[in-house]
Amino acid sequence: MFYRQSGMRSLPIDDGSPGFTPEQKAKNLKEVRVVTETSVETAEATGLGEIDRSGSRVSVDDKAMINCRADVNQLLPLKYQWAWEKYLAGCNNHWMPTEVSMQADIALWKSPDGLTDDERHALKRNLGFFATSESLVANNIVLAVYRHLTNPECRQYLLRQAFEEAVHTHTFEYICESLGLDEGELFNMYREVPSITDKAAWALKYTQNLEDPNFKTGTPASDQAFLRDLVAFYVVFEGMWFYTGFAQILSLGRRNKMVGVAEQYQYILRDESIHLNFGIDAINQIKIENPHLWSEKFQSEISTMLAEGCELEVAYGRDTMPRGLLGLNAELCEQYMHFITNRRCAQLGLGPVFGLTENPFAWMSEMMDLKKEKNFFETRVIEYQTGGSLAWD
Ligand SMILES: [Fe+2]
Ligand SMILES: [Fe+2]
Repeated sequence: MFYRQSGMRSLPIDDGSPGFTPEQKAKNLKEVRVVTETSVETAEATGLGEIDRSGSRVSVDDKAMINCRADVNQLLPLKYQWAWEKYLAGCNNHWMPTEVSMQADIALWKSPDGLTDDERHALKRNLGFFATSESLVANNIVLAVYRHLTNPECRQYLLRQAFEEAVHTHTFEYICESLGLDEGELFNMYREVPSITDKAAWALKYTQNLEDPNFKTGTPASDQAFLRDLVAFYVVFEGMWFYTGFAQILSLGRRNKMVGVAEQYQYILRDESIHLNFGIDAINQIKIENPHLWSEKFQSEISTMLAEGCELEVAYGRDTMPRGLLGLNAELCEQYMHFITNRRCAQLGLGPVFGLTENPFAWMSEMMDLKKEKNFFETRVIEYQTGGSLAWD
């Protein structure tokens, strides 16, 4: 007896072996038909199915974020201008970590009095958290989100984002090599330091759900599971946890310490602010198209997720800065995280989970100001394009 691989599960096939009664044959045929239909649906959603030679042209109205039946291989006509604009913005922000000089950082790191023990501890924890987080985020996009997000302009952005996550992982390789850090200590930190492990484990359970080969969207329960994953990675991981990490390093940079690493983080921050905003737009668009998913019960579950993410970050802050650094300590980071959590809630159309909180890092807010960010981009883009054209002459 052979088994047909449907990609979803195995079914017995009548190969003439004894044991197939007419009833069993009828039952098996029915099951094969169900699985074949499921496979066609899955193939249409992924874009890997047989080409429909009689297929009609794609209309904008047929396009949808999830569970779409319009051909996902056709970018035009565009439906979601916001997704395409983010793809263009990502491309305009192209950078490579190796363009940033690490000379001053190397001198400071190697000088016995260059940094305090607390600063070294915080810096290593920070680098250790980011070093593998970039890979976790990339895996989520490539192995979980891409398959189920059935819109080509959103997929175009995901492909750009996946490359940017590779550039970010490259950044931590470059910093590790430049400073002569212990690579095992840095890259294995997410398995050795409980406050980092706790964050990674919290996010992983949402992506593991989607990565299951039997998972597919199309029911309220599975569509909500997909939304949970977008919230866990785009809003909590990239939109909350990364932001305290940026605050720690940029705070050092403002005091003229580890300026090369700080510059790398500024470029990452530019990328991540687009990743976050893409995620928020994607979630809100799915809500518009599927209002039944955004029930009161589900909204309260999402608020709880954001509060949990905040709690994990506060624990990580205490672990990373047990005695505090100049201008930065665990209490200020906690306050900042409350401020950020409330802001992310508002972006998703949810009420605040914490009382009114002031932003203790007003200078961070300034750095993320859209107008300034744009000016920064423009300067950078011109510089990069000049360098790029020289390199190709
Ligand atoms: Fe990243
Ligand atoms: Fe990212």
